[in-house]
Amino acid sequence: MSDQTFRALVVEEGGGSRSAAIRDVPMAELPAGEVLVRVAYSTLNYKDGLAVTGKAKILRGSPMVPGIDYAGTVVESASPDYAPGDEVILTGWGVGERHWGGFSQLARAKAGWLVPLPAGLSLRQAMGVGTAGFTAMLCVQALERHGLRPGGRDVVVTGAAGGVGSVAVALLSAAGYQVVASTGRPQEADYLRALGAHEIIDRAALAGPGKPLESERWAGAVDTVGGTTLAGLLRSTAYGGAVAACGNAGGFELSTTVLPFILRGVALLGVESVMVPLPERRAAWERIARDLPLGLIDRMTEVIPFDALPAACEAITNGQVRGRTVVDVNA
Ligand SMILES: NC(=O)c1ccc[n+]([C@@H]2O[C@H](COP(=O)([O-])OP(=O)(O)OC[C@H]3O[C@@H](n4cnc5c(N)ncnc54)[C@H](OP(=O)(O)O)[C@@H]3O)[C@@H](O)[C@H]2O)c1
Repeated sequence: MSDQTFRALVVEEGGGSRSAAIRDVPMAELPAGEVLVRVAYSTLNYKDGLAVTGKAKILRGSPMVPGIDYAGTVVESASPDYAPGDEVILTGWGVGERHWGGFSQLARAKAGWLVPLPAGLSLRQAMGVGTAGFTAMLCVQALERHGLRPGGRDVVVTGAAGGVGSVAVALLSAAGYQVVASTGRPQEADYLRALGAHEIIDRAALAGPGKPLESERWAGAVDTVGGTTLAGLLRSTAYGGAVAACGNAGGFELSTTVLPFILRGVALLGVESVMVPLPERRAAWERIARDLPLGLIDRMTEVIPFDALPAACEAITNGQVRGRTVVDVNA
C-alpha cells in the first residue's frame, strides 16, 4: 500500500469476459463511504468462493471487490460513532456483493454497517469467526429462542467441517449440548472431536431417501447443507424440536412432507445474516466473545496471505476447505 494505491482483488465482468486478479488500485477509485477502514483481515466464506470463481452470480456491479466481511482499524470517519484508531468488524449488508468488500487493504463503509470489536477478541480472532461464525451464533440463538436447552437429546450440525459448521459445533458444545457432527470427511473426525463433537456421522446417513417420519433423534439441528440433508433432518427431528436452516452447500431445493410439522410440531427456522439489525448484531458478537473459547477459534482457523486467496476460493467451492480461512490482506 502506498499513499496513492492499495491492493485489492478486483473482479471485472462484462462483454462476455471475466477477470479476477489482485492488483494495485488507485485511491481515487475507492467508492465513497462514511468510514475509511484499514483492513487487517478478511475471510473466505462459501459465498466469496462463488463470487471470485464466478460459479454463481453473486456480484452486482463491475469492477467489484469481493469479500463479505473484514476487520480493521478506522482511518477516517465522517460519523460521530467512530473515530480514527477504533477497531471494527463488518459482515454482510451486501458488502463484497454490491459494495466493494474486504478482499482489499482499504474499505469504506456506512457507520451503521460496522460493529465495534468486542472486548476479548483480536481482529484476527474476529475474522476467525467472521460471517460464518456470526451465522452459526444466529442459528444457536434461533434454536434457543425456540426453547432448546442443554440436557436433552442430541443436537446435530451438518457440513460440520466447514466454516459455519465448525463454529456451530464449538458454540453448542461450549454451551453444554451433546453435539453430533455430520460430515462427508471422516478424516476430520479428530478435528471435530477437538471442537467438542461427541459423535461423528457420515453425511450420507442424513441425505438418503427415507420414510416421511423416522425415529426421533434430534432435539435440534444447525443445517448448512440444505437439499436432501435438510429433508432428512426434518424427518428425524424429535417432537417439538427445531432445525435452523442457514445454508445450501448441498443444494437449495427442499422436498419434504408436512408430517414433521403437523405430527411432531417440528419448526423450520430460517437464518439470514446479511441484513440483521445492528442491536442484534452487537448482541451476537458480544456473546461470541464471551462464550466461544479462544483456543477453539485458533484451532479451526488457518491464516493465508493475500496471494493464496484465488486458489482457496476454488477449494471452498469444491468442499475442500476445513474450518475458517482468514486472509491477511497485508501479507
Ligand atoms: N444464511 C446466511 O446468512 C449464511 C451465512 C453464511 C453462510 N451461509 C451458507 O452456509 C453454507 C456454509 O457456508 P460456509 O462458509 O461454512 O461454507 P464451507 O466452509 O464450504 O462449508 C460447507 C460445508 O458443507 C459440506 N458440503 C459441501 N458440499 C456438500 C455437498 N454437495 N453435500 C453435502 N455437504 C456438502 C462440507 O462439509 P463436510 O465436509 O463436513 O461434509 C463443507 O465443508 C453455505 O451454503 C453458505 O452459503 C449462509
